[in-house]
Amino acid sequence: MLNVEECIRLRRSVRAYEARQPGAALIRELLEAAVHAPTAMHREPWGFAVVQDRALLRRYSDRAKAMLRAPSEAVGWGASERLHGSHPAMLDDPGFNIFYDAGTLVVVCRRDGGPFADADCWLAAQNLMLAATARGLGSCCIGFAVPVLNTPEAKRELGIPAAGAAVVPVIVGYARDAIPAVGRKPPEILSWKEGA
Ligand SMILES: Cc1cc2nc3c(=O)[nH]c(=O)nc-3n(C[C@H](O)[C@H](O)[C@H](O)COP(=O)(O)O)c2cc1C
Repeated sequence: MLNVEECIRLRRSVRAYEARQPGAALIRELLEAAVHAPTAMHREPWGFAVVQDRALLRRYSDRAKAMLRAPSEAVGWGASERLHGSHPAMLDDPGFNIFYDAGTLVVVCRRDGGPFADADCWLAAQNLMLAATARGLGSCCIGFAVPVLNTPEAKRELGIPAAGAAVVPVIVGYARDAIPAVGRKPPEILSWKEGA
């Protein structure tokens, strides 16, 4: 298995997958890694919905595209979170699947509220994605899926408590192609104060 530094640098968002699915044992290993994330006040507020049903994912994708195209409150995001101005053209493409035809979606959910519950879920999601990289699996966060997964119907279907929410949808699977590592801008150090 790769070490953590290698996983951090090799992880890329994968948008094309093989048809074969990661098995249940592998998915459980990713969930185990996820729950080792730090968590505010050790609340461990997360829960996980796993979807390995391509027809259901296609249904969510179609619904998500319709919601994201509609310039309305339907999406339920605040003004700063709405898609800027016009929506991306791919949302008009009937063939575009927001889950890139991946057969597995893991939704990191919070079971209730709390000021840091979303942060806890994001940290868990990063653990999950690094654990996927370590095991030769690709992954990608799908922010486009957040509104549809938080509709009452989807929450009911996925067992997400009414007081909770879908926070981080992550697709997982075997990458069809190798994706090269990319560079990043150097860290912008805004301040670094040292005492005398
Ligand atoms: C909050 C968040 C939401 C994202 N939503 C999407 C998405 O809906 N669709 C998608 O293809 N990629 C999505 N991504 C993946 C980013 O586009 C990707 O991480 C970024 O381009 C950097 O590329 P890398 O992950 O390969 O390093 C999302 C990433 C984050 C962190």
